[in-house]
Amino acid sequence: MRKNIVAGNWKMNNDLAQTEALIADLKAQTISSNAEVMVAPTAVNLFSANAALEGNAIEVIAQNMHFAENGAYTGEVSAAMLKSVGVHTVILGHSERREYFNETDELLAKKVDAALANGMRTIFCFGEELADRKAGKEEAVVESQIKNALFHLEAAAFKNIVLAYEPVWAIGTGETASPEQAQDMHAFIRKTLANTYGAEVADSVSILYGGSVKPANAQEIFSKPDVDGGLIGGASLKAADFFAIVNAF
Ligand code: PGA
Repeated sequence: MRKNIVAGNWKMNNDLAQTEALIADLKAQTISSNAEVMVAPTAVNLFSANAALEGNAIEVIAQNMHFAENGAYTGEVSAAMLKSVGVHTVILGHSERREYFNETDELLAKKVDAALANGMRTIFCFGEELADRKAGKEEAVVESQIKNALFHLEAAAFKNIVLAYEPVWAIGTGETASPEQAQDMHAFIRKTLANTYGAEVADSVSILYGGSVKPANAQEIFSKPDVDGGLIGGASLKAADFFAIVNAF
């Protein structure tokens, strides 16, 4: 059975004091949900966030990492470093990384390999731009993003892969894909997985939706059969909103 997951991507928000304050607010909330809950603070606050959440069900995850084990990569963070501060899950391929830091499918394939080689779980993000959707190319774009970065993997690797479909036009814009648009794409993604890896693998991979998920729309989106949770940006910065989304499961 695949898991339901709700992950908060804090992006480049919250300094140390703000991180501690938000975590204190999160700890005061009640989880009444069957979803795994994760939060992704900025790298510099992973250690303290993990310490603050020790013994709590909320998992602290990273927003990004480099593919190399170590070496002359100024400003970067490796999988081994993340693990050394107790982080075992990493978001890779977010559209902001693709857009502002020129992350390509080829680079992301290397990052995914490095994460998996280190025994880390990867939340792999992808999604079409507005122009792709207007041109009716959204499935082709999504298919190539997934295939280029992931389809060199063995079937067993998918135990540590979570997929996150995030249409770029819905991220931070207030514009959400309709529950039907999300379901259609998630079903397409699962079919694409099944065609290469078989139904068992396809049915076991959690596929999250991301893009302007809010307390008001979470329940309807999460009610779709192929939507197994959400990657939440803006609404994850307020504990009450984030937990309203978590508890939509
Ligand atoms: P948003 O961001 O919820 O603010 O649209 C989602 C994301 O970027 O993961």
